[in-house]
Amino acid sequence: MFKKLQNLTKRPKPFEFYTAASLWTDEYISQKMLGFHLDESVDLASRNKAFIDRSVDWIVSRFNVGLDVAVCDFGCGPGLYTTQFAQRGADVTGIDFSRRSIEHARKTAAEQGLKAEYLHLDYLEFTTDRKFDLITMIYCDFCPLSPAQRKTLLGIFHKCLKDDGAVLLDVLSVNHFDKTDESRTYEYSDGDGFWSPDPCHVFTNIFKYDQEKLLLNKHTIIEEARACDIYNWLQCYSPETLDDEFKRNGFSVAEQFADVAGTPYDPEADQFAVVAKKA
Ligand SMILES: C[S@@+](CC[C@H](N)C(=O)[O-])C[C@H]1O[C@@H](n2cnc3c(N)ncnc32)[C@H](O)[C@@H]1O
Repeated sequence: MFKKLQNLTKRPKPFEFYTAASLWTDEYISQKMLGFHLDESVDLASRNKAFIDRSVDWIVSRFNVGLDVAVCDFGCGPGLYTTQFAQRGADVTGIDFSRRSIEHARKTAAEQGLKAEYLHLDYLEFTTDRKFDLITMIYCDFCPLSPAQRKTLLGIFHKCLKDDGAVLLDVLSVNHFDKTDESRTYEYSDGDGFWSPDPCHVFTNIFKYDQEKLLLNKHTIIEEARACDIYNWLQCYSPETLDDEFKRNGFSVAEQFADVAGTPYDPEADQFAVVAKKA
């Protein structure tokens, strides 16, 4: 027992495990996630509806998203942004490895007669001959990726972005890192909880990696029949570290904002957004 508990609190090496698929594609958890995406009042799997509407309006005017403008949204979820881009006539592609989210996005497009292609796949494996005017990755989905995965992803962006196209994405800031404390919490669910339909014990450890400005939320879920660990890595950035990373991968950061709704950059905020162009 002592050994098992010691394992629970063991700090892995940075990005030692990648379990994003368990978090987003598990048959049961993805149903809960879809519920969060579609709850218009909360910032959980997606941001709240008022923010998304404001963000779409800003993106549409800032990047002239209109008839036949090619937009690709990486980690599109159930299509809360892509649906609205398609409603403005854009030629939309959405990529997500959650089958449940992609099915929801496809159904919405079919019901509304929208031109949108939804691809059910891991965006780290996306290949295409197409070129996009705008690539989006919204709600800090860049942050759970390891340096090697981010390099792969930026390579994919570079290949499929038009020479005069733009990438828009948001990330967690070092302020968020500084404000977060290491912690250990325990929860018990009788069943029908977030993690499992069955009774389960959930231990959550938050680890900080000071040198890397990296956070880890490690969830250990223990049911009668099985146990698993889910690792949610969160790379935090300063404008300089993000700029450097983009430069190393053939991009230059053209603009910084506080969010993907065009709010002016705020050095005190927990997140920031950038517009990057091919260097
Ligand atoms: C935080 S949610 C944001 C969803 C959407 N961008 C929004 O703001 O409404 C992250 C999304 O990325 C997807 N995702 C995470 N890792 C992925 C991967 N490797 N390949 C494809 N989709 C991924 C998840 O399934 C989830 O829908």
